[in-house]
Amino acid sequence: MIGFVGAGRVGAQAALEVASVGVDDIALVDIIPGLAEGEALDISHKLSETGVDVAVSGSSDYSTLKGARVVVITAGLARKPGMTRMDLLGKNAGIIGSVAKEVAKNAPDSIIITVTNPMDVMNTVVLRATGFPKNRVVGMGGILDLSRFKHVLSAKLGVSRSSIMALVIGEHGENMLPLPRFTSVGGVPLTSLLSAAEIEATIASTRQVAIDVIAKKGATSEAPGNAIARMVKSIAWDKKEVLPASAHLDGEYGLSGLSIGVPLMLGAGGVEKIYELNLNETEKAAFAKGAQTIKEGITALPPA
Ligand code: NAI
Repeated sequence: MIGFVGAGRVGAQAALEVASVGVDDIALVDIIPGLAEGEALDISHKLSETGVDVAVSGSSDYSTLKGARVVVITAGLARKPGMTRMDLLGKNAGIIGSVAKEVAKNAPDSIIITVTNPMDVMNTVVLRATGFPKNRVVGMGGILDLSRFKHVLSAKLGVSRSSIMALVIGEHGENMLPLPRFTSVGGVPLTSLLSAAEIEATIASTRQVAIDVIAKKGATSEAPGNAIARMVKSIAWDKKEVLPASAHLDGEYGLSGLSIGVPLMLGAGGVEKIYELNLNETEKAAFAKGAQTIKEGITALPPA
């Protein structure tokens, strides 16, 4: 079974995507009475017409997560226009601390995917509150960021998004780090297709697009739902996809005691391998800036 805590815009969309490909039965939990049940019914009705026979339930009761092998946490407050992800820190830390304890009690063997923002800091809150080993707590951010980078690049270059292999690491926030040196178009290095100034402009757009979506439609949901579903599938089907996500570091990249976006292998064991990139000095400095912001967020956490 796959659990989802938070049946709001992102949680419900992710549950729909996971259910639609029949990964496993689904249990949705939300604090608002009736919301998770309503979403579960709506998703179930859609499945009746798509030939998928997984069971989808919704509840305010965490005991429905018993037996979950993956739990996605999207509970908490979302950004309003004009807010940064870090603005959510204090309120969401309290929510995520209590949610994570419930998940640990009811689904002690699960792998948790943290989504709630500021996601990298919240991933540390989940790790601390559950006491889970670090391979079983991973945050979603990098896939979403790279889907935006790919979109911006495909528009600029006039090529199919599916020809672009991109990588975005670092803080899932103001310091996200798209990596042009590790990005190619059908194997052709991006750095040979665009000038340094053009690449800088695509990176600036990539950092801006989520704010544009929130300003225009109030929230992001489709792209995050897809990114979460990709991570759930890689774990549940032991696909061992290599993708960027937030992992708790223990010496990798010269850092410890924080979660940050890095390329990793995601399989039945959760984070099965972290890949260390050979970053140049500019990339290292940008990565370190994001790490510093996350560290400051962790320091600012209210006492558990
Ligand atoms: P939303 O407001 O639509 O949904 C949040 C849900 O959490 C609500 O239904 C609310 O009732 C529920 N909730 C609050 N406290 C709870 C508790 N203690 N237990 C159970 N449920 C609880 O918000 P949305 O748009 O779904 O975003 C959710 C979070 O995900 C936000 O923090 C947002 O910033 C973050 N996010 C992260 C992304 C990422 O890439 N990591 C991408 C998009 C959103």
